[in-house]
Amino acid sequence: MYKIAVIPGDGTGPEVVREGLKVLEAVSRKVGFKYETVHYDWGGDRYLATGEVLPESAIDEMRQFDAIYLGAIGHPDVKPGILEKGILLALRFGLDQYINLRPVKLYPGVETPLKDKGPEDINYVVVRENTEGLYSGAGGFLKKGTPDEVATQLSINTRKGVERCVRYAFEYCRKRNRQKKLTLVGKTNVLTYAFDLWERTFNEVAKEYPDIKTDYAHVDATTMWMVKNPEWFDVIVTDNMFGDIITDLGAMTQGGMGIAAGGNINPQGVSMFEPIGGSAPKYTGMNVINPLAAIGALQMMLEVLGEEQAADLVDRAIAHVTGTKLKSLSAGKMGYSTSEVGDMVAQFVADA
Ligand code: IPM
Ligand code: MN
Repeated sequence: MYKIAVIPGDGTGPEVVREGLKVLEAVSRKVGFKYETVHYDWGGDRYLATGEVLPESAIDEMRQFDAIYLGAIGHPDVKPGILEKGILLALRFGLDQYINLRPVKLYPGVETPLKDKGPEDINYVVVRENTEGLYSGAGGFLKKGTPDEVATQLSINTRKGVERCVRYAFEYCRKRNRQKKLTLVGKTNVLTYAFDLWERTFNEVAKEYPDIKTDYAHVDATTMWMVKNPEWFDVIVTDNMFGDIITDLGAMTQGGMGIAAGGNINPQGVSMFEPIGGSAPKYTGMNVINPLAAIGALQMMLEVLGEEQAADLVDRAIAHVTGTKLKSLSAGKMGYSTSEVGDMVAQFVADA
């Protein structure tokens, strides 16, 4: 019996989560596992009503679950940063979800802006470090508001934090068993402390994985290759900030935010799965947003829970819907409503 915490969140989050849960129900029946869900109302509306972003007990409470399923965080009436830091980053950090796993996968039938590239070319995974780097919050102001003001924002890279991330990436690459190639993405030519540590750690850990080919690319060049030669990549490992940036680019090459999913993973603890786009508030309640990113996040959750057969089935269901049904992945242009897309995925699963 899996215990799953559900945080639908803001904007269109609840709409897409509803479709994900529809698919979870269908696949649990099909494959035969049991689960229960507990919903949490954390998000912008709760914050505006109570002034509290997360209850104090939140992190401890989340530790009781096998996984967390998150819709989206972000509210037009809340100043940027409050909910992101107070909910999303607080959960990632509090639960030590040190991996942000973001597949860049072009499903069949999905249009990519990359000329002459197809599903066989765009299929790699970014392993983003998720608790350190520029996201650590280290730094501050001096003489704030004066002409002499100084602002610093430090990138914290610990040997332990880098090593566990790099090690996860090697393991993941081995398990994925495709090109068996792991690319470290950094900036060793300028960030000569941080990425020196990354590079040394990467090379040391690589010795334990003789079956994995290793490669290195600077982050600026990586954005070039992601557009020009995405087929070069199998698994990428990188720091938090670079991972944040390149996965938005990756998401666009796989058809946009309507399909891009990610997992915030603590391999020894509780992981959290989310569509990587925002809450898209302008589409709230219109039943037009694409739920496939949320369904993809659910698919990743099943994989991490060890429900491989279920994960594989949902993956095929998504491919079926993109390959044979949807006109576009964009909100309002799919040719179907949010709930109809969820129905089609669930139906494919049920009929499989
Ligand atoms: C993401 C988002 C977050 C991040 C924001 C909302 C804090 O951009 O999940 O990629 O920067 O990690
Ligand atoms: Mn981002």
